[in-house]
Amino acid sequence: MDIDFTGKTYLVTGGASGIGAAVVEYIATHQGTAVIADLNDEVGGALAARFPTQLRYLHTDVTRLEQLEAACELAETAFGGLDGAVNSAGIGSLGTVADMPVEEWHSVINIDLTGVFHACRAAIPLLRRRGGGSIVNIASLSGVRADYGFAAYNAAKAGVINLTRTIGLDHAAEGIRATAVCPGYIATPLTAGTGMIDGLLDDWLGRVPLQRAGTPEDVAQLVVFLLSPAASYITGTEIVIDGGLGSSNNQPNIPAFFAAM
Ligand SMILES: NC(=O)c1ccc[n+]([C@@H]2O[C@H](COP(=O)([O-])OP(=O)(O)OC[C@H]3O[C@@H](n4cnc5c(N)ncnc54)[C@H](O)[C@@H]3O)[C@@H](O)[C@H]2O)c1
Repeated sequence: MDIDFTGKTYLVTGGASGIGAAVVEYIATHQGTAVIADLNDEVGGALAARFPTQLRYLHTDVTRLEQLEAACELAETAFGGLDGAVNSAGIGSLGTVADMPVEEWHSVINIDLTGVFHACRAAIPLLRRRGGGSIVNIASLSGVRADYGFAAYNAAKAGVINLTRTIGLDHAAEGIRATAVCPGYIATPLTAGTGMIDGLLDDWLGRVPLQRAGTPEDVAQLVVFLLSPAASYITGTEIVIDGGLGSSNNQPNIPAFFAAM
């Protein structure tokens, strides 16, 4: 799929790494421009340096609204405005309601949910000035259904999905679309630790009907479609991209059970 992003500018939070970086790379290699808003100065700066006329990197903590406003301002001064935002900054977290440190709950909600609110809040005035735009929030399959031991992450990602629906409703009349993308297991630095725990990655991928991990580029293809005019009738909804992982209701595989008898 080839989308021409000539004349279009995007804010990409978490754009230094993984899914966000794959989106940035697609935009830059398809004639678009973007501001990478991330904390990882080394990696984000290096990505921006590869496309000096099309990318800018700004050290941005998504828990700070004023830093996202500065990133949007940079999009305006460097590229003349903003056509959309891809909100991919996020962290993982393990822990149950009973045992997780309370500070960790607040930190995950601040980054994974409030960070998305901040980015949308900063971007919407610029999108209005353009007469519309597209916001793509990276939620998770873990926002659609629950995991064992992911209390804060499950809550934050479910929040992102419903926040996206409300943005879709509130800003449709202004030509602003909002969609949430819900990945399953994607091989990125965020999930790299899985491979270090004996048997965990095999167990995880063994549950994926398409029998492989997703790549950042798999997700980027969906995101850039949602940014593009080809998705002009899609708003206020979520789209799962998980190789089929979330399609089972977790009951036994009866045909496989009989076949093994
Ligand atoms: N990898 C997966 O399997 C998977 C699955 C479902 C959802 N997701 C979601 O996709 C998004 C991207 O994840 P990824 O796998 O590409 O991870 P990643 O770790 O490769 O990238 C996340 C980026 O977010 C940045 N970041 C973290 N905290 C930040 C903050 N406070 N301010 C600004 N930037 C910050 C990091 O520096 C990093 O560059 C996340 O929201 C994650 O929850 C990932």
